[in-house]
Amino acid sequence: MSPGYSEKVLEHFRNPRNVGKFENPDGVGAEGNPVCGDLMEIHILVEDNRIKDIRFQTFGCGSAIATSSMVTELAKGKTLEEALEITRQDVADELDGLPPQKMHCSNLAADALHKAIEDYWKKHGGGPAEDPKKKTD
Ligand code: FES
Repeated sequence: MSPGYSEKVLEHFRNPRNVGKFENPDGVGAEGNPVCGDLMEIHILVEDNRIKDIRFQTFGCGSAIATSSMVTELAKGKTLEEALEITRQDVADELDGLPPQKMHCSNLAADALHKAIEDYWKKHGGGPAEDPKKKTD
């Protein structure tokens, strides 16, 4: 890899955590990057409103793989509300930064995680959409 990647990025790229998918996920989120065409999918298992387990599959660059791996580590064990607050910046910070031209790669991981949580709420009820104060119509 070219210079500018932190040791943590390289380590997660070489040994990605939580790779794969579940037979019966409670929520699924997929996100694509229209610029480079890379794709990522996140599966979550939920118990007592917490992310009990999480898996990802990424068809993308090394930074996308490292950020996916990191986002699964950050989200595991968190409540759905806490996990929804994980931002692209959090993921990049936990990896000790990404080269500026690679920051867009961290979008995939955080966005796919957020979509998986929203998918869970859509299928099982709950989430901010059910809060009447937050309804816009
Ligand atoms: Fe596509 Fe990194 S180049 S996600």
